[in-house]
Formats: sequence, C-alpha cells, structure tokens
Amino acid sequence: MTVAEEFRSVMRRFPTGVTIVTTVLDGNLKGFTANAFSSVSADPPMVLICVNRRARSHPLISQAGRFCVNILRVEQQELAERFASKEPGDPFDSTPFTRSLTGSPVLDGVLGYFDCELAEEHSAGTHTIFIGNVVACASHEGAPLGYFNAAYRDFGCFTT
Ligand SMILES: Cc1cc2nc3c(=O)[nH]c(=O)nc-3n(C[C@H](O)[C@H](O)[C@H](O)COP(=O)(O)O)c2cc1C
Repeated sequence: MTVAEEFRSVMRRFPTGVTIVTTVLDGNLKGFTANAFSSVSADPPMVLICVNRRARSHPLISQAGRFCVNILRVEQQELAERFASKEPGDPFDSTPFTRSLTGSPVLDGVLGYFDCELAEEHSAGTHTIFIGNVVACASHEGAPLGYFNAAYRDFGCFTT
C-alpha cells in the first residue's frame, strides 16, 4: 500500500458528521457536501473547512468572502448525495432554503448552521483551509447524518 492509500484507510476509520457548505457570489448560489469541518474557537466563534482547490466552490468562497456550514440531519442523506454530485443541474432548484445573515443559503430542516465571514485562507496540499468568523448560527433538535468507512450512517444518536 502507498502512503496515500494507508492515509485514506486510516481516515476512513474516523467517523464524522456531514455538512453542506454554501455560499453566494453575485447572486449565484453554490453548495457542496463536506465533512472536513471543525470548530476552531468558541470565543471568538470560529470554524474551519478544507476545500479541494479543484472544487468549483473553491474560487466562489474565496471571492465571496463568506460561507455557511449546514449540519445535516440523518433524514437528509439524499441532500448530501445531491450536493456531492457532478451531474448537471442546479441542486438548489429542488432544495428549499432561506438566506443567512450574510446571504448564503441555509437549507430547510438542518440540525444547525454556522454563517461565516471568511477570516483566513491557508493553502495546504491539494486543499485550502478556509477559516471563518461565525456571525450567526442556530441549532435545532434532531439526530445527525454520519459518515464512516466511505458510507453514510445513522449513528443511532438520540435526538438533541
Ligand atoms: C461525505 C462527503 C464529504 C466530502 N467532504 C469534502 C470536503 O470536506 N472538502 C471538499 O473539498 N470536498 C469534499 N467532498 C467532495 C465534494 O462534495 C464534491 O467533490 C463536490 O462535487 C464538489 O462540488 P463543486 O466542484 O461543485 O464545488 C465530500 C464528498 C462527500 C460525499
């Protein structure tokens, strides 16, 4: 096994939640499925996402200077698949949403969201780490969509 293959094998053993990161640039909405998301700091509130530089979302987040992390509920696997797809068509056409404080889409029914203004960008390997200042957020009751060993999961959590 190459080091990269070993790396993927180890990472597959780390369970995560699933998010859809959204942004808006010149009125154009964009969103993609992401699990490379982490809290950075609670006070001041900051989060990070890691985005592949080849993702179409990458230049939009950088230019818009804002992004919103939508944390998916276990019932929202189909949304995760829709926003990870490279199929033509706009996934927002079939996805109800409202607008966050900064204008990024907040998807209906999510477990919570962090609306962010872009604070820092760091290039690392194939990805860029985008660090955001959280300017608005909200949480709702429900159980999370999980991801483990390259598959969506129901972690069997009780609702919050
Ligand atoms: C569960 C899951 C998690 C993902 N996490 C990330 C991530 O954290 N960062 C990333 O750049 N791509 C991630 N991807 C891949 C993107 O969702 C995918 O490449 C998407 O098509 C990118 O869309 P875009 O090119 O339209 O921006 C993930 C995909 C899946 C299925």
